[in-house]
Amino acid sequence: MRHVIKAGGSVLSRLNTPFFEALKQLTSIGHEIIIVHGGGPHISGRLEECGIPFVKVDGIRVTTKKAMTIVEETLAGNVNTSFVRTLNQAGFEAVGLSGYDANLFQCTLLNEEKYGLVGKVEMTNGRLLRHMLKGGFIPVICSVGVDENGEPVNMNADAAAEAVARAVSADQITFVSDVDGVLHSGKLIAAATRMQIASLMHDGTIYGGMIPKVEAALNCLDNGIEKVCISGPALNGTLIVKEECAV
Ligand SMILES: Nc1ncnc2c1ncn2[C@@H]1O[C@H](COP(=O)(O)OP(=O)(O)OP(=O)(O)O)[C@@H](O)[C@H]1O
Ligand SMILES: [Mg+2]
Repeated sequence: MRHVIKAGGSVLSRLNTPFFEALKQLTSIGHEIIIVHGGGPHISGRLEECGIPFVKVDGIRVTTKKAMTIVEETLAGNVNTSFVRTLNQAGFEAVGLSGYDANLFQCTLLNEEKYGLVGKVEMTNGRLLRHMLKGGFIPVICSVGVDENGEPVNMNADAAAEAVARAVSADQITFVSDVDGVLHSGKLIAAATRMQIASLMHDGTIYGGMIPKVEAALNCLDNGIEKVCISGPALNGTLIVKEECAV
């Protein structure tokens, strides 16, 4: 069972006992784990400290060249290393990677005019990840990539996790965030279909960072990933399903 876990930046500082226990449980039942993470709040904090203004459009951070250096420094230099260290302290064998390593994420620009240096994945180096899984390691990947010229681009971490899941033909993907799952009037939705998600987006119930997340989740479902879930740190939340199902 190959399982990609996307850990949101919003939840990284709170990935404590329930998350590690859930992760241990998964590895003990034989799940091969790959972690992809963002770092939204950390990046925003650093940009503010550096006096670099930023905006998000449809949940995606508009990234200038100046902001990109902060994104890289924060995600690869800081968030990734401390996440890897915490995982290894908790008894795992995690290895930190960015999308630069062996050109893990090769991107084109999503929409330069609208988002600046934000990448859309064209190719993912699944071979590197399969090697690491074979060795029993947990790859921990931060969401930066390279463009056609090998220059750095920022990526939405949900889209990066989707690319990884597709590249290794994952059986399962879990998007872990700072909410228990997809909420409607404060209540957790146990399972959601494409139709329901479309209507929740239409009426504004799903907004901001939840937009790229549900989009990545639906793309995973369309690409043969059997189990797709949006959850909090305990790893059980909203199942994204193809058809209406009784829950
Ligand atoms: N219907 C919804 N249910 C739950 N959360 C929602 C909903 N609509 C919007 N959100 C927002 O989406 C946020 C999660 O997305 P966000 O991009 O902020 O975090 P992340 O993806 O976990 O982290 P990162 O972007 O750093 O990878 C929630 O904190 C919440 O504010
Ligand atoms: Mg996000």
